[in-house]
Amino acid sequence: MAQEKQITPWEVQGELTDTDYQKVAREFGAKIIDPELTEMIRSAAGEVHPYITNGTFFAHRDLDMLLSDYRSGKRFYLYTGRGPSGKMHLGHLIPFIFTKWLQDRFGADLLIQITDDEKFLFRDLEMEDIRKYTEENILDILSLGFRPENTHIIVDSEQAGILYNQAIRVARHINVSLARDVFGFSDSDNVGKFFFTSMQAVPAFLIPALTGRDERCLIPYAIDQDPHFLVARDVLPKIGYRKPSSIISKFMPALKGSGKMSSSDPNSGIYLDDDPKTVRKKMMKYAFSGGRATAEEQRKFGAVPEIDFAYNIYKLLEPDQGKVRKVYEEYRRGALLSGEMKQIATDKINEFLEELRARREEVRSEVDAYRFSIDKVMR
Ligand code: TRP
Repeated sequence: MAQEKQITPWEVQGELTDTDYQKVAREFGAKIIDPELTEMIRSAAGEVHPYITNGTFFAHRDLDMLLSDYRSGKRFYLYTGRGPSGKMHLGHLIPFIFTKWLQDRFGADLLIQITDDEKFLFRDLEMEDIRKYTEENILDILSLGFRPENTHIIVDSEQAGILYNQAIRVARHINVSLARDVFGFSDSDNVGKFFFTSMQAVPAFLIPALTGRDERCLIPYAIDQDPHFLVARDVLPKIGYRKPSSIISKFMPALKGSGKMSSSDPNSGIYLDDDPKTVRKKMMKYAFSGGRATAEEQRKFGAVPEIDFAYNIYKLLEPDQGKVRKVYEEYRRGALLSGEMKQIATDKINEFLEELRARREEVRSEVDAYRFSIDKVMR
């Protein structure tokens, strides 16, 4: 019997195929991004990001509505976030790469929520350690080149005054049985968990709430976060705001091919501070391969790039789609061996991390300029 695949923000079980993703999206009530919507994105943005055409971002809620409003001259803003539960690995950064593209293309304000409170309530971590991750993670995110004028980072525990006053408005409309149903909580879960989704809902209406501007909100996120925004879409109209739109991604490829990347196993992912030698070692030793057992078999039958970590991460980091297609085709038919695929991906990863680390040092002294403030979003 096939194992049930359960998805909540805190627990993701089982490996998902494309069909699983479609099924989950449908069950959650999200829509698949079809060719018509892809064309709508192209005409509004001037181009389509490869993460849309290659299916990384595959589903949405009300993105069509937001885009047609945009076409008639209405602005929207972007909202995404990060729970600082540990060091960031490559996969964590992928949604931010996409969000930056959206921001650049649409000239939109971007709120980035750092949910340190969430990690305190849901993980066995102390605030002291979470604060360190918060600081480091913010630098990691900013090293992608976000600009301070329209990028606003809001740390839950630090800007609780602003957030709490909005969160209680949401919380009043969420009863215990709904939270239990949507998030799978039980009587033994701490009371903070039941409240938390109200905090994550706030940035989805914070701009209209503080400025009075009637701007829609677009939230890029991985599908495990969908329950939060299902609740937010239910509550927001009840307190006078629009339902947020969303654009939803699959999970990022895992180095070892399956399971979650766990913070207790340093070899379960490629961290942003892994040096070139470490990256190479992890790739050669641990990267899950879709290639055949021997070189002869690989030459003869070719690989399954779809399940190959090296190919998948290369696909996400190489902007030149012509190159990606060529590598896919050669690997698929066996012209490339598994070790060669790993080599290509390793070089790409190291090139990417190198650039990131250079910019990371540049932004270190400018972090304050990115901090959320009412003045900054007032314009
Ligand atoms: N809960 C998310 C996490 O654990 C962080 C987060 C907060 C987020 N707000 C978001 C992610 C909005 C995507 C979109 O990482």
